[in-house]
Amino acid sequence: MCPAFVGARQWRRYGGQVNDPREQAARRRTFAIISHPDAGKTTLTEKFLLYGGALGVEAGAVKAREGRRSATSDWMDLEQQRGISITSTVLQFPHRDKILNLLDTPGHRDFSEDTYRVLAAADAAVMVLDAAKGIEPQTLKLFEVCREREIPFLTFINKWDRPGRSALELLDEIEERLVVEPTPMTWPVGIAGDFRGVIHRGTGAYTRFERTARGSTIAPEEDIDAERAAAEEGPSWVEARDEVDLLDSLGRVVDAKTFLAGESTPVFFGSALTNFGVRFLLDGVVDLVPSPSPRLLADGGRRALDAPFAAFAFKVQAGMDKAHRDRVAFVRVCSGRFERGMIVTAERSGRQFSTKYAQTMFGQDRETVEEAYPGDVIGLVNANDLRVGDAIYAAEPCSFPPLPAFAPEHFMRVRVKDTSKFKQFRKGITQLDEEGAIQVLRDDMGETAPILGAVGPMQFEVASYRLENEFGAPALLSPTNYMIARRTDAASRDRLRAMQGVDVLARDDGTLLALFESKYWMDRVIADHPELTLERMVAEGGL
Ligand code: G4P
Repeated sequence: MCPAFVGARQWRRYGGQVNDPREQAARRRTFAIISHPDAGKTTLTEKFLLYGGALGVEAGAVKAREGRRSATSDWMDLEQQRGISITSTVLQFPHRDKILNLLDTPGHRDFSEDTYRVLAAADAAVMVLDAAKGIEPQTLKLFEVCREREIPFLTFINKWDRPGRSALELLDEIEERLVVEPTPMTWPVGIAGDFRGVIHRGTGAYTRFERTARGSTIAPEEDIDAERAAAEEGPSWVEARDEVDLLDSLGRVVDAKTFLAGESTPVFFGSALTNFGVRFLLDGVVDLVPSPSPRLLADGGRRALDAPFAAFAFKVQAGMDKAHRDRVAFVRVCSGRFERGMIVTAERSGRQFSTKYAQTMFGQDRETVEEAYPGDVIGLVNANDLRVGDAIYAAEPCSFPPLPAFAPEHFMRVRVKDTSKFKQFRKGITQLDEEGAIQVLRDDMGETAPILGAVGPMQFEVASYRLENEFGAPALLSPTNYMIARRTDAASRDRLRAMQGVDVLARDDGTLLALFESKYWMDRVIADHPELTLERMVAEGGL
């Protein structure tokens, strides 16, 4: 059995006997981690599992799994080669009396559309910063995705065991660059590089940590009173106390209301490598992240937690397992109790299917899910009718608001290299489109040479790699002149098409996109023809 899951047996141990969806939802905390590559997301994930008791005590297992993952899945080899993470994983582990669902997000900005979808399934995020680097470019991009989704976030300032910047300076940076008020929940004693412990601002207690060899076991902690701290920590203690007094006088205290509104972020200091401060962060997740609440429906109403089972798909991914070539739809449960094998209806097609193959996944490791509740994520194998944003339900039909597509900013025309492979090519393009791995836009060249639209150029690399390795259809990608897109409609199509430097292409779902050769030109058309429909899309021109 894979130790990283709360599997069927463990599940029952964590309270699976209670099958009231509202009660179970109240025990769930569903969140994602966002960070710039190398800030320590993998290490922190591993330590979460260590503290959650789900990983045995085998530090290094997450990395080992990563290695194994790319050995068994072909297109994930690309992740290994490029040192990026495209696929996401979902982990479940207990902390205190709660069950935490951790959704992994791709770190690279080129996949921020994917991050957006994952965040649609999370109730909060943890933003990890490197203490020496502060806010890095990808942190900023991913944070913007969070803001777009109005998702509250906690901040973990990592690598405090290494020389870095001052804690107050880092707070200033968060405030200035993110325009969010940082409200430290813990405050470090000892400068970056000489980390002694933290003062918990809620209780005022000082907790000192002890190092263990490469942090492979939980860091021993000792609560120390002020008198002893002053005697043993000397100037570090005085400085930390002064800073805490300053924060108090500025009213920088954790505030649930502004946190939930995304206006403030509780900050935790620590070191994932040595485990210092990790437990406090987990406590923060349990105490601050909201439990799943009734989900907004497309008609403006809300799906009650105890309504019959319903979930929505936030990610569809194929080729996760080379041996099986299966396609997995990840769904987040929104209401009711899921039981493996139950018959559900896919909203889009109206077709019913059995959920016999319901799994949780962590890279290549899978375990069957017997039951799930609001906030949980299930991977449904070969639920081929499902696309991102679709609802599935057991009894009362429902539909959730669609997940908006990002404005593509890079466009390439794609053709099959060897025409005898056209069938495979077409299948591959359809699959990539349905997964939302890339946007497929069609003009008069339709099927033979569609245009691929991407948020970031690395998506082309993945598409091309997958067409060749997964579908056996090597492709040729050639640049186009298009630079920017806006959503349009049928009424504006012909007039736009008649203009120079503009074309109108269609997505499979019927959405029409007007593509322009320059932003300048697009702005001119908008200014000169206010009667034409040219709508902005999510995350335009930045993410
Ligand atoms: P990522 O998933 O965000 O990309 O980061 P990852 O956890 O892989 O960490 C990137 C590097 O930073 C790793 O070093 C890791 O050991 C180190 N690291 C993570 N957290 C801490 C911390 O709290 N303190 C210190 N000092 N280092 C930390 P590496 O040399 O790339 O890998 P490894 O050889 O250590 O495994």
